[in-house]
Amino acid sequence: MAQLVACTHKSEPHGHLRHRRLAPRLLVVSASPENIDDFATDICTWVSTPESLRLISGDCGNGLTRAVLHRWILSAQQSFVVLAEASRPVGFCTMCRSETLGLPPSHIELGHLVVHPGHRYLFIGQRLCHSSRLEARRLGFAYLCGRVVEGNDYGVMLAKWEGAQEVTGIAPWALSGFRWFQVETRCQSTP
Ligand SMILES: CC(C)(COP(=O)(O)OP(=O)(O)OC[C@H]1O[C@@H](n2cnc3c(N)ncnc32)[C@H](O)[C@@H]1OP(=O)(O)O)[C@@H](O)C(=O)NCCC(=O)NCCS
Repeated sequence: MAQLVACTHKSEPHGHLRHRRLAPRLLVVSASPENIDDFATDICTWVSTPESLRLISGDCGNGLTRAVLHRWILSAQQSFVVLAEASRPVGFCTMCRSETLGLPPSHIELGHLVVHPGHRYLFIGQRLCHSSRLEARRLGFAYLCGRVVEGNDYGVMLAKWEGAQEVTGIAPWALSGFRWFQVETRCQSTP
């Protein structure tokens, strides 16, 4: 059974609501090899082209497959699925240390972040970032980091919205070919 991690009602006051629809009631749950088959078919349909796969991973292919999704979850320390009404998945991400060689022990990488194309611009990406940041802190990591493929403006905007610092070309572990961001896991909303 899915582990309940967080529950949210309507989107919180944000200052940018004029271009937002109201967010549905959302649950953020842990994804694991045991429950991912409940969500895999939906998640794979959001990533159905080589370009959409390239935005969220270094994997090549025509799109996301169940086998690749399973591999991501097995190599992650934590994975999250956001569920909307009727337990329909609308967002997904992983938290992993093995994707980036030389990542310092203080860091964990947020990866494979994707939101259902029909549910974008509803704070779901921000919700996943927030849950990952809290989880990284709980696991003892000082920083949550992430990479954005060159040209992915939405990914960059999301990182900036999270208050992340860009470390492209600065951090020695920041592999070239991406823009890299990191944010401290310590934040005001966590006691
Ligand atoms: C990037 C992505 C995860 C954002 O998810 P989301 O739930 O739609 O994003 P949010 O509603 O939390 O918005 C976060 C910020 O992203 C930007 N953004 C999100 N969707 C956008 C859109 N359709 N057009 C323009 N900006 C957008 C906004 O700047 C927003 O900040 P704001 O609140 O100041 O306006 C989603 O667009 C997606 O799945 N994209 C394809 C995969 C991908 O690029 N993953 C990210 C890899 S780094």
